[in-house]
Amino acid sequence: MCGIVGYVGHRRAVGVVIDGLERLEYRGYDSAGIAVGHVADGAPARIEIVKRAGKLEVLKIALEGRMLEGTIGLGHTRWATHGEPSDINAHPHLSEDGQLAVIHNGIIENYGELKERLSAAGHVFLSETDTEVMVHLIEEHYRGDLAAAVREALAQVTGSYALAVARADHEVIVVARATSPMVIGLGEGENFVASDVPALLAYTRRVIFLHDGDMALVGSDGVTLTDLHGAPLARDISEIDWDAESAEKDGYPHYMLKEIFEQPAVVYNTLGGRLVGETDVNLDLALDPHSIDRAIVTAAGTAFYAGLVGEYLIEKLARLPVEVEIASEFRYRDPVVDERTLCIVVSQSGETIDSLEALREARGRGARSLAILNVKGSSISREVDDILYLQAGPEIGVASSKAYLGMLVAFELLALWLGRARGTLGDDGAREIVRALRSVPRLIEDTLTHRPCIAEVAETFKDKDHYLFLGRGINFPTALEGALKLKEISYIHAEAYAAGEMKHGPIALIDDDMPVVAVATQGELYLKTLSNLREVRARNGILIALAHPGDDMVGAHADVVIPVPETHELVSPLVNVVALQLLAYETANRLGLDVDRPRNLAKSVTVE
Ligand code: F6R
Repeated sequence: MCGIVGYVGHRRAVGVVIDGLERLEYRGYDSAGIAVGHVADGAPARIEIVKRAGKLEVLKIALEGRMLEGTIGLGHTRWATHGEPSDINAHPHLSEDGQLAVIHNGIIENYGELKERLSAAGHVFLSETDTEVMVHLIEEHYRGDLAAAVREALAQVTGSYALAVARADHEVIVVARATSPMVIGLGEGENFVASDVPALLAYTRRVIFLHDGDMALVGSDGVTLTDLHGAPLARDISEIDWDAESAEKDGYPHYMLKEIFEQPAVVYNTLGGRLVGETDVNLDLALDPHSIDRAIVTAAGTAFYAGLVGEYLIEKLARLPVEVEIASEFRYRDPVVDERTLCIVVSQSGETIDSLEALREARGRGARSLAILNVKGSSISREVDDILYLQAGPEIGVASSKAYLGMLVAFELLALWLGRARGTLGDDGAREIVRALRSVPRLIEDTLTHRPCIAEVAETFKDKDHYLFLGRGINFPTALEGALKLKEISYIHAEAYAAGEMKHGPIALIDDDMPVVAVATQGELYLKTLSNLREVRARNGILIALAHPGDDMVGAHADVVIPVPETHELVSPLVNVVALQLLAYETANRLGLDVDRPRNLAKSVTVE
């Protein structure tokens, strides 16, 4: 939610900041803005601001021909919370005297009362944002020391923030963090600030992840870290192993397509080094598998659906009871959790506020914790007992694809490990799954070759208003994820049901105008799924089936078959979902929609 970039050094700040914003646009894209400090006689003399409603392109057009020469800059790409997307509400926000600029990600919860008090004291507010109170508060406390003014202002604020502040007469950026992510990039004679690592990769891989309650003074020659009371702090410097190219489109028209095609490598890398021989797994976890009686998986969106697959796998292979909970529900519902509960939190970004709070809730009640994460150094990574990292690389497309695959692999590995350790999974069973997992990269490659057939389906049905997705057992989450992808990027209304549930209500929706996508790959419930397909046909439904090549039984009922290769049923969600990702992508693309930046969404949801 909202992307923040800051630069102080020897280059023209505008180039670095715009470059960083381009890489962070997945965090929000309803408006964008930039502030540049202008150096006159060796000191910044004024701050110039350009900001526009709309995507970053609109700001770039507004910047054409502008001579922004300064070497200190702030940039922001917004996902609106308070106030509609407009030029005025876009960040940075500037003080009345034009000397102070502020960008912010998060929510100032007590902004209403602060605004009332400040207005009564004569401050004039221009925007409807919560952020603007920070400008006035800092201004009110400013007596020559910018860091002290920010500290005093923050003492009056409740809420979440990643905040960056610049003043015309200072050659530093002051930053602070509470809940919303912020990272400092370290260069030579230059330093950087960003809400997310991809903004920095072209310049440095040495970073400091700020913790909640950290502040920093970022100058060209150094960074000084303190707490919110000004006491010095030390934080580790981390080396990022992602390279700049992994955050580029690499010739693909969209990040999402590139990320879908990267999935064979994601599976290969996430398995990498963790499979031991033909039957075992080494996950390097501190967790004693005998110390737990149950697991609770908690997550949001796509990560939640990965958790549903995880539930199926862990219960099947390790006979450990698992519940899967939407993080935003779990955190508020007084859950029954004790020290023999394992809380598994799943998150691509590691920053989703609901997932972080759900983890805190479970830990506060004594649970052991394990995170399945993609982004190293993220907030969740700092509060958890054990971590299983996906090896997915940066995911830029707002709709998640390759991270989902990484999460599924992580759950496969975890279920295998728990099953072996708890003695519920024998050698033969383990061998079959390990063998199947090793072949997944090849099977995904095979699925990807069916893109033309999937594109034809997308073309045929792209103008439909509604879609139904059906799946059973371990592929019910596949149907849920397929429906989510389609609604997110094509804006077509899509619902997913467990196929056996259809006759309990949703069957009333079926007519000759609504495509029904059924995951009909063979498995334990194959014959039952076939009867569900018959029920759809009997009501003149349009049936699109995912089935194994040559499956005539399914072929006899379906209007269209999308072929997906056969594999072990417990591994099939990793292969099947790829076809549904492509269906959503091809549909959105044919509708001329902005696949990588779907309306109203943001990549990591760091506000409630
Ligand atoms: C869907 C999507 C979202 C995220 C959800 C959780 O395509 O991307 O539903 O899965 O917001 O995000 P993370 O995994 O970062 O916690």
